[in-house]
Amino acid sequence: MNSSAANSLKLGICGLGTVGGGTLALLENNGAEISLRTGLPIEVIAVASRSLQPGSLPHIANTGTDPFAVANDPDVDVVIETIGGFDPAFEVVKQALSNGKHVITANKALIAERGGELISIAATNNVILAFESAVAGGIPIIKALREGLAANKINWLAGIINGTGNFILSEMAAKQRQFVDVLLEAQELGYAEADPTFDVEGIDAAHKLTIMASIAFGIPLQFEKTYIEGISQVSPEDIIYAKELGYTIKHLGIARLLEAGVEIRVHPTLISNKNLLASVNGVSNAILVNGNAVGSTLYSGPGAGAEATASSVVADVIDIARYQTAGMEKPVIPALGYLKHHENVPVLKIENIRSEYYLRIFAKDKVGVMANISSILQRHEISIEAVIQKEAISENVPIVILTHNTLEKQLNGAIAEIEQLDDVSESIARIRLEAFDDEGGS
Ligand code: HSE
Repeated sequence: MNSSAANSLKLGICGLGTVGGGTLALLENNGAEISLRTGLPIEVIAVASRSLQPGSLPHIANTGTDPFAVANDPDVDVVIETIGGFDPAFEVVKQALSNGKHVITANKALIAERGGELISIAATNNVILAFESAVAGGIPIIKALREGLAANKINWLAGIINGTGNFILSEMAAKQRQFVDVLLEAQELGYAEADPTFDVEGIDAAHKLTIMASIAFGIPLQFEKTYIEGISQVSPEDIIYAKELGYTIKHLGIARLLEAGVEIRVHPTLISNKNLLASVNGVSNAILVNGNAVGSTLYSGPGAGAEATASSVVADVIDIARYQTAGMEKPVIPALGYLKHHENVPVLKIENIRSEYYLRIFAKDKVGVMANISSILQRHEISIEAVIQKEAISENVPIVILTHNTLEKQLNGAIAEIEQLDDVSESIARIRLEAFDDEGGS
């Protein structure tokens, strides 16, 4: 651990976009209060950003465009990486850790996909790699899972963890706005990723869920095994039909511990309007966590935006300042919460999960169509909970079916057969439906 800073903690920031800029501003605005909390003044002494001119931030000693200059600056104690993406972020973080500097990153892709390697470099160098801001913006969910709930065996967690996606679905539901129009607004407000397909196709949420699942269950980071489905296929009609049935469609990240392994999946989900998550709208995020001692707990707040995300970055800075004040030689809290991971816990393939399902089928309004659909479902041992036939749209009639709990593999077989029926047009919309009772894991 770098203990050179006796009378202040010296920070270097790499990347001055939404999060980096928000962090700089927050440190300036709340600096005096933060020093009282830490016992150590905190100063930003270096900033690197793509188009930053030397001297353009007069109160900061070193400014420029090269993040490696920050990672190699001998006076910097903590590097804050808010560049995003892998290149050059990965090498910058690696270099800083190897130089014995603590690193704070808001980069969920980096942690979810390459975190294992970086955490081990941090451990070798006895420094902290912190990433509270990488998951759910301003909500301290990493600390909650890793520290506050550390006594529990976590059974499951489920959350709205992409602000942009939630903003889009909420606006579509409340104001019947078009998907593209709402996405543009989310971009203008600084919620969306540089590449907004990361938000709407579920990749951003999958990065966050990968990190939470690892901390919750004590398993390695396994982004490649996380099932990912985004919101781009959710239609305004499905939002309306679900609402009529008493459900809200939310884009959820779900991680669940079962005897056969763990489920780690991101997809649109029907949840009861009575579920606490159903009323979480706009850019807000919320995560329900069920532990075997505490039961269910809920964490909610802003999941994106400059100040909210900076709140989490600066909380990590404060942790490090407190370490420094206490004269601690090495980090005591493992980055992912476990000193030793559970090995060989399989991540279940999506075909092997069980769920209830919402199906929307466009079919000809003819005698016998419904009987054919029912008989296929029956043959695949899928029990129907509710069926509603909506008003015809041109010559087709939308049929909405809710199933009881079934194996996804069985449902896939039934859907393939139903889609082959002459009287069924277009592909069938299928959305998983979750109840989230206080169901336990093992
Ligand atoms: N694009 C992300 C979101 C930002 O919308 O949630 C915070 O990770």
